[in-house]
Amino acid sequence: MKLVTIIGARPQFIKAAPFSEVFRKENKEVLVHTGQHYDANMSTVFFAELGIPKPDYNIGVGSGSHGVQTGRMLEKIEEIILKEMPDGLLVYGDTNSTLAGALSASKLHIPVIHVEAGLRSYNKLMPEEQNRVLTDHISDLLLCPTQTAVDNLEKEGITAGVINTGDIMLDAVQRNTQISKNRYADGAWLDEISDESGTILSFKEKEYYLATIHRAENTDDDTKLRKIFSAFKRMEKPVLIPLHPRTRKRLAELEISLTNVTIIKPAGYLLMLYLIANAYMVVTDSGGLQKEAYFLKTPCTTLRDQTEWIETLENGWNRLSPIAGNIILETVSRPLHCLQHPQPLLFGDGNAAKHICQAILKGGK
Ligand code: UD1
Repeated sequence: MKLVTIIGARPQFIKAAPFSEVFRKENKEVLVHTGQHYDANMSTVFFAELGIPKPDYNIGVGSGSHGVQTGRMLEKIEEIILKEMPDGLLVYGDTNSTLAGALSASKLHIPVIHVEAGLRSYNKLMPEEQNRVLTDHISDLLLCPTQTAVDNLEKEGITAGVINTGDIMLDAVQRNTQISKNRYADGAWLDEISDESGTILSFKEKEYYLATIHRAENTDDDTKLRKIFSAFKRMEKPVLIPLHPRTRKRLAELEISLTNVTIIKPAGYLLMLYLIANAYMVVTDSGGLQKEAYFLKTPCTTLRDQTEWIETLENGWNRLSPIAGNIILETVSRPLHCLQHPQPLLFGDGNAAKHICQAILKGGK
């Protein structure tokens, strides 16, 4: 079988690695990098660390408004499909690259395979929610990470071609946790993050909050961004932030004070796993990080009003916090009873790549 696979942003690189390895053993995969993420530490580092094959095409779309970015990709992906004429086109997740890939293939009657189908926040203002709903409705094979995702699709009348394969991000975490420990244990992680800031940092394991902020709903709202950093200032432990370029730019423009906060460049996957596993708590607006924290048994506070990953809320491993200074502070200082609770297996068996591959080869039957 020949597939064209579209990737373009950090979370897609992470998901692509385990799948490509399994699928390529007996099939052909044409890898297309849209170039949505293009900085070395947002893209190249993931290919190197995770052994992702070199893309066959790099569209180099770069930054732009949603319409410009999606439109440029649509045009180029169509050309690639017409040249390659694959048996199917595979997309991951909910980014603009996902929607562009799915739409190009659907218009050309090439079967669309969506990995991480069925997630919903039910907040239509999020570009990710628009991307995932539209992608699901034009997909032929909908590979879901959880039963909740399967149920969400059923509520929208989508039942054909829907399979719960488990979450491929669990495969990635399980394969790489030990590699990450070997690389960054015994203080090596401090050398890595200290290099970036130019000063020696003295973070202690389980004595810092690890934060990431990049969602448009937070970065593009001055009041929210100020409230988040004002809460960081008052937290009882220091806050370490591998910072997305979008947020870095906004902080500088708004001259927001960075008291109690240490900013480092966006972390590669292996360093990020180490930083998550050793944090007291993760504080984030990312989707993927909520789950990585859960898999690594680190409590999480999510700076949003909804989450697509409702399973992580069970037993308080993850808590939502609206962006209001005191509520953030109360949520991050809650007692961590979750640490005494075993986690039910809600995200599959860590072999999602294999299940996804089998589902594709059987054509969803
Ligand atoms: C995208 C996804 C989001 C995902 C995230 C993972 C969409 C709509 N959003 O958000 O769902 O969680 O990736 O990180 O697809 N930039 C750089 N260098 C880069 C990439 C981006 O400087 O390598 C800056 C640019 O100013 C750009 C901005 O970041 O305009 C936003 O990048 P974009 O790819 O549009 O969205 P993300 O915020 O990264």
